Amino acid sequence: MAKFKVTEVFEGISMPGYLHTQESLRAATNFQFQDTDVLLVTFPKSGTTWMQQILSLIFNKEDFQNIQSIPTWARVPWIEQIYLSNYLPQMEASKPRLFTTHLTANLLINNLKTSKTRVVYVARNPKDVLVSYYHFHKLAKFLPEIGSFDDFFDQFLEGKVNFGSWFNHIKDWLGVQQDLNFFLITYEDLSQDPRGAIQRLSNFLGQQLESKELENILHYCSFSFMSQNEQLNYSLVPPEAFDHSVEKFMRKGVTGNWKEHFSPEQNARFNNVYQAEMGDLAVKLPWSL
Ligand code: A3P
Repeated sequence: MAKFKVTEVFEGISMPGYLHTQESLRAATNFQFQDTDVLLVTFPKSGTTWMQQILSLIFNKEDFQNIQSIPTWARVPWIEQIYLSNYLPQMEASKPRLFTTHLTANLLINNLKTSKTRVVYVARNPKDVLVSYYHFHKLAKFLPEIGSFDDFFDQFLEGKVNFGSWFNHIKDWLGVQQDLNFFLITYEDLSQDPRGAIQRLSNFLGQQLESKELENILHYCSFSFMSQNEQLNYSLVPPEAFDHSVEKFMRKGVTGNWKEHFSPEQNARFNNVYQAEMGDLAVKLPWSL
């Protein structure tokens, strides 16, 4: 039974009880992946919806009709919600099945590493993730009260937000990438060079794109198209769950918005934590802090 504004703690990580139950989370950790599946992995507010749209465009490039009538969350559902939804039977007919998760790798690795499932990890500058997440808390009425931006800043740095620490999430997934069929892509790549990023992603997915198909995908995944389309912009979510009068889900869609929110002191503090947490990471991530 879903619970409003209640945090569900699962394996030590806080998650929204409105969206998940212990049973649905347990089912996700036991989920049986197929070799043809594609799993999109993100920390919240990293461009999940954007990539859900891109993946379903790539695999429906001959027919964009279904994107006009089915919301992204039904086309590329979260495995942590599959148990509570009726998406799976209808997905069995389509290959590949496209799924999303915000869970950490340690919860899924046992089942994932025995399959050839393609894992697409979307990372975003955590400073922009923090700002986007702060605004999302104002929109999503089922999330905990967070107080001021300064309060939320501290909670995020301490990993005391839903889905835990951004740092743990990305390090956990990058730490197991050798065991998986894994592709890392960033929000920043998609913003700066959407054409190149989508081509590289398509190659990883084994999909060749004609130039006209690529042009169509670029159009249908643009912020201007997505923010106007009710299957993509979350405006269909009822007002009990989203207070559309205070925020929009499709808010800014830019890189570097953190500069309008962080004080110099917060920025220095964030950089220190980032260096301590990420300093040893071999992968070069394309954002400037
Ligand atoms: P902002 O709040 O910074 O605007 P998620 O889907 O993981 O919840 O991420 C939501 C963030 O992705 C929001 O960021 C949203 O505006 C942004 N976003 C969604 N679609 C986008 C697109 N087509 N282009 C750029 N940003 C997009």
